Amino acid sequence: MCGIVAASAKRNVVDIIINGLQTLEYRGYDSAGIAVIEGDGITIKKQAGKLTKLKAQLADEPVSGHSGIGHTRWATHGEPTSANAHPHDSNNAIAVVHNGIIENYAPLREQLIAKGYQFKSETDTETLVHLIHDYQSDGLSFAQASHKAIRLLDGAYAVAITCMSEPGRIIAARKGSPLVLGMGEGENFVASDVQALINETDQFCYLEEGDIVEITADDYVIYDGNDQQVSREIQTVKMSADALSKDGYAHYMLKEIHEQPTAVANTIADRLLGGRVSDEFITPEMAQTLQQVEHIHIIACGTSYHAGMVARYWLEAFTGIPTQVEIASEYRYRNPVVPKNSLFLTISQSGETADSLAALRYAQTTGYLSTYAVCNVANSTLDRESDVCLLTYAGPEIGVASTKALTTQLAVMALFTLKMMEIHDKDPAKRKRLVKQLRTMPGIINQALVLSDQIKGIAEQIVKRDNALFLGRGLHYPIALEGALKLKEISYIHAEGYPAGELKHGPLALVDEKMPVIAVCPNDELLEKLKSNIEEVRARGGELYVFVDHKSDHGLSDRVNHVITLDASGSFTSPIVFNVPLQLLSYHVAVLRGTDVDQPRNLAKSVTVE
Ligand code: F6R
Repeated sequence: MCGIVAASAKRNVVDIIINGLQTLEYRGYDSAGIAVIEGDGITIKKQAGKLTKLKAQLADEPVSGHSGIGHTRWATHGEPTSANAHPHDSNNAIAVVHNGIIENYAPLREQLIAKGYQFKSETDTETLVHLIHDYQSDGLSFAQASHKAIRLLDGAYAVAITCMSEPGRIIAARKGSPLVLGMGEGENFVASDVQALINETDQFCYLEEGDIVEITADDYVIYDGNDQQVSREIQTVKMSADALSKDGYAHYMLKEIHEQPTAVANTIADRLLGGRVSDEFITPEMAQTLQQVEHIHIIACGTSYHAGMVARYWLEAFTGIPTQVEIASEYRYRNPVVPKNSLFLTISQSGETADSLAALRYAQTTGYLSTYAVCNVANSTLDRESDVCLLTYAGPEIGVASTKALTTQLAVMALFTLKMMEIHDKDPAKRKRLVKQLRTMPGIINQALVLSDQIKGIAEQIVKRDNALFLGRGLHYPIALEGALKLKEISYIHAEGYPAGELKHGPLALVDEKMPVIAVCPNDELLEKLKSNIEEVRARGGELYVFVDHKSDHGLSDRVNHVITLDASGSFTSPIVFNVPLQLLSYHVAVLRGTDVDQPRNLAKSVTVE
């Protein structure tokens, strides 16, 4: 959360920073700001609200400079006001931008106040900038003072600091929040994510935990957590600017929903070989470890947790390996029992989610056979810290509500299930059938996308309501949960997902003619049970919207007002397909409500605070 861009160059850096921040707004959009060294002072411009407000201010009051730092904020300490917006400065001599939380800021703040420092904001960040100033007043150089102050911080952070006494030099550091160094010709940069810099360079170093980097236009030096100078691998990262554009769609979310057939094709293409999952996906060495696996613990947050829930059904049904799935922030703090020969598996789009990383680090101390990750961002912290990372190839997901990331996570977990079947020698004929089904996914998702107009019609009904219930059973219960999460996060309509069988144990009390009930009704062994649950809703006058498989003999068309039919392929992959119309439903409801679809209130992608 929060995005940082900093640059030192022989040209004006303001556009570099603002364009970079534009691509980082997914990390937070409560306020934005920039500090540049201009003449003999630091000029700071900042605004509450989105980056467009800052841009408007800069159009009226242009600034320029050869080095600067910028920030887009997701508020932790202090309301999203312009006073709390970053950068924060000390005596107009030093300015800082920060992502994360400084846990020991309170005592430091008190010490600084006692020394006469006046705080202008409620943020933890302002403590750091005064601390550096205080150390400089004691005679330390900019670098010495910054290193000393950074080493004193507890918590998770990425920071970038600029100082008037050394214009052109920027000091940046990471511990617990991502930061990447970008190298250009006669210019160097740091940012929270490579995508902020792809218009400037394709040469990057991913900084490691505890690293501090000092950049000037001509040079950079990296220090590790012990303040020893180190070199880090330079990587070439090619990313097309199209991947970051809306490509003619009204919103990133709509574009990302429509990218799902390609994203799934990219994710499975080279990993299916004939009737099996290739050894490139899981190498023979990895398979040796996986053969010993007797338990699986899947840990994730939010939408990624729903992917884990579906995977649990698959793994238990097809491999017989007991599988637990748990929310990362709960798992980490309950002293979980780890049976012998357990595999730990985290699912995360960003690979930077603080709760999931904390769970992984905890798991590394508790005797798992191995730690696996399913992740969409190569070189993310989760990728680097897990023993094995199975990448999803969704491409950058910019809409805050996750869509194509989930679909590709499901595709990878389907591949993983099939490979575990092979490794544990389960039913080769069935395995072949399931591989065949998985191959059809891109085409089947394309067909589901065609329902968009029909779903828009339903959205026109649901938009009038304040609540909604989503029902599913078995493999499709997590899809009901995901449908509810998506609707609430982007349309702000209160929505709950329930296992349909649980309805009569409480939530049925909510059902009346003003309660839309959306049921995911696949053609599987639970169809008849689900139909009974639908009847329970119908009998209480609930407004039913039922998504059914075209192959099923559901008999619901005469009994329910809204039946939406789709080809869900087979029961193995049908959760992947049924999720698509629910994404479209949330999208259309949100558009009709006029909410900010891509950047819903109070949220941010990449949740790097616990
Ligand atoms: C919802 C959503 C979130 C994320 C969650 C975990 O649309 O995107 O619930 O799924 O914050 O994020 P990752 O997958 O990056 O660990």
